[in-house]
Amino acid sequence: MGLLEGKVGLVVGVANDRSYAWHIANALHEHGATVAYSHLPGEKNARRTGKAVEKITANPWLHPCDAGNDESLDELFNAYAKDHDRLDFLVHSIAFADREWLQPGMFSKTPRKAYLDAIDISAYSLSAMSGRAQDLMAKNGGGSIMAMSYYGSEKVVPGYNIMGVAKACLESTSRYLAFELGEHNIRVNTISGGFLRTLASSAVGGTDQMDSAAKEKAPLRRGVEGADVGKTAVYLASDLSSGVTGENIYVDCGINTLGA
Ligand SMILES: NC(=O)c1ccc[n+]([C@@H]2O[C@H](COP(=O)([O-])OP(=O)(O)OC[C@H]3O[C@@H](n4cnc5c(N)ncnc54)[C@H](O)[C@@H]3O)[C@@H](O)[C@H]2O)c1
Repeated sequence: MGLLEGKVGLVVGVANDRSYAWHIANALHEHGATVAYSHLPGEKNARRTGKAVEKITANPWLHPCDAGNDESLDELFNAYAKDHDRLDFLVHSIAFADREWLQPGMFSKTPRKAYLDAIDISAYSLSAMSGRAQDLMAKNGGGSIMAMSYYGSEKVVPGYNIMGVAKACLESTSRYLAFELGEHNIRVNTISGGFLRTLASSAVGGTDQMDSAAKEKAPLRRGVEGADVGKTAVYLASDLSSGVTGENIYVDCGINTLGA
């Protein structure tokens, strides 16, 4: 029997089969979970996400959601609750910042709106989703919420810029949520994933350097794979992590431990 047999949840952030969310969903499914998905609104996005998740499971539950829009978030969680009687895990694997400002030397030029949009979609959305997930999780004795972060939240990674600020906000948001939702046995954690080539990471200037530095310098002498993060997501969604909340777990082949 799989570690997640009987567990049901929602994964937000599959754009294609290279997305961190795809690797997470694949691992959750392999361990027995039933996974529902959201995709960005629009037919093209629905098709693209649908094609990717059909590699994991036939006839997946899919619903559109723009995390920057409260009505769209309400619709997603209402539709999920209509079709499912439990929510054991929620995976937040989304981020957005206008790529123009994700270049070395552009942080101090970032306009107010671009700055706030990045925080809104990449960090506030975790709080917005967790609030909407709370009742359904609490109803069945609790749940596990996890969000994807990156080391650029703590140390300067040239080019990561506003996304680093948004990730710091995401990690702090996760700790405050962990405190508030803990009384319902809802755990909230972040996974700080290593560099992976995806649509989102291709928007950051200087990623080739990030990729090769990680592979050469990391204690494990390799870059992270999506499956590495998927396995940690299984741990976080399962009862194996029953006492873990408000944490940031590095899955980066150890690169964060280096001083130089
Ligand atoms: N790839 C990396 O190197 C890396 C490293 C650490 C953390 N992360 C984080 O992992 C998460 C997933 O990114 P990824 O690298 O898999 O890239 P990705 O492009 O595959 O996924 C990003 C997702 O964000 C979604 N998204 C963007 N704006 C949205 C909105 N308004 N509403 C709803 N969804 C929206 C996109 O549709 C997409 O599915 C992000 O939080 C990213 O910052 C990525």
